[in-house]
Amino acid sequence: MTAKKSKTEKLWAGRFREPLDLEVERFSSSLSIDRRLYRYDIRGSIAHSQTLEKAGLLTSRESSKIVKGLKQIEQEIEGETFVFTSEDEDIHMAIERRLIALLGKLGGKLHTGRSRNDQVAVDVRMYVKDRVNDLVRKVIQFQQVLVDCAGCYRDVVMPGYTHLQRAQPVLFAHHLLAYVEMFDRDKQRLRDALKRIDVMPLGSGALAGPNFSFDRKYTARMLGFRAVTENSLDAVSDRDFILETLGIVSILMMHLSRLSEELILWSSNEFQFVELDDAVCTGSSMMPQKKNPDVPELVRGKTGRVYGHLIGLLTVMKGLPLSYNRDLQEDKIPLFDTMETVSACVSLYPKLFQSITVNRGVLALAAQDEWIFSTDLADYLVTRGIPFREAHHIVGRMVLFCSENNRKFTDFTLKELRTFTTKFDKGALEVLTVEGSLKRRSAIGGTARKRVERKLASLGKALERETN
Ligand code: ARG
Repeated sequence: MTAKKSKTEKLWAGRFREPLDLEVERFSSSLSIDRRLYRYDIRGSIAHSQTLEKAGLLTSRESSKIVKGLKQIEQEIEGETFVFTSEDEDIHMAIERRLIALLGKLGGKLHTGRSRNDQVAVDVRMYVKDRVNDLVRKVIQFQQVLVDCAGCYRDVVMPGYTHLQRAQPVLFAHHLLAYVEMFDRDKQRLRDALKRIDVMPLGSGALAGPNFSFDRKYTARMLGFRAVTENSLDAVSDRDFILETLGIVSILMMHLSRLSEELILWSSNEFQFVELDDAVCTGSSMMPQKKNPDVPELVRGKTGRVYGHLIGLLTVMKGLPLSYNRDLQEDKIPLFDTMETVSACVSLYPKLFQSITVNRGVLALAAQDEWIFSTDLADYLVTRGIPFREAHHIVGRMVLFCSENNRKFTDFTLKELRTFTTKFDKGALEVLTVEGSLKRRSAIGGTARKRVERKLASLGKALERETN
């Protein structure tokens, strides 16, 4: 059986006697995936051409012709008139092939002192920088929507939970602002990672640096990088910046997934805390009554996919010797799919909160749960001089008594209260109110109305500053 061979000669084919096996060609091509890097590739090539000119390797006429050719190629790809061929190994080769077709021998000068190893590294870094900056903007927008929603329902009280059991009353706004804090940390991590992403690897050659004295800082300035890489071997084989980004967005997705879980629970018939808008829910093909929270469910599911990409790429990197290895081409699917997935989730989430209906009544009733004041009552006894452990025990006995006798704290007369301890006095009855409970939680970070109001105002201002 004779294997089918590639129809075109590769740009690197000089040392080969035979054309590439067709199946190998298909197997090794990354074009369908890395096509989306074309803009970055062209920007990188324009900067490289100008670096070559500065190094005296191209005349200014040659360099301008190359830049013009590259811009034309960009328009061709944008206008979908560019003809990709199945023989193009990747986006870098496709663009260079076309440049040579347009400019002849001159097109062949562009790759001087450059390798696809540093070329792909710089392209991907530019891509990640843009995606991360865009994600930060989207996170801010989402935080603003959460703060607005918290403000809209600022009066609403709900039970706060631990172990998914009603624990203590909290403001609904306080609950939403907990997520605002989480997304704030995500934002900080993204911004911090940018320092390490924003370093330019171009000018590292295949692995040892180019044979020419390129002014790499000049190239970095043209491409908007804050610094240049310091070791060529590391520069062409480093994918930490991708892993770091995947790690950070995995945490972000974990936050979104927790919020999703709450929305799914809250919109169930069992909770009925909130109702999601029709426009963001879907029905069942069989059960006519269903209105399903598919968006949060999908976000929760996609979180698993994102974690998978992080672990997948860590596994690709594990044990790789220096420097570039073709394994590194496998970074693209996890990176692109992750950034697109996370971006879609963060973009969509504001819609859910802009149109959510919060069932104030149901929440208020749940917050009146008879035992929700247990801690308040124990703390009250502390103010009457009883050590907390003892107070905890006394209130525990009261809970037991109530559950066995179908009673509520709030129905007790003072006399009845005093059968548990004579330290109870009139003030004890005043403790048993939601408003009292909220009011006392006024330390920094607490759910007291005043605190939450202050936080709402300061967050509103801070987010506004961030968008300007
Ligand atoms: N498509 C390759 C990648 O994404 C580009 C670098 C190829 N380098 C090489 N020496 N074959 O990693």
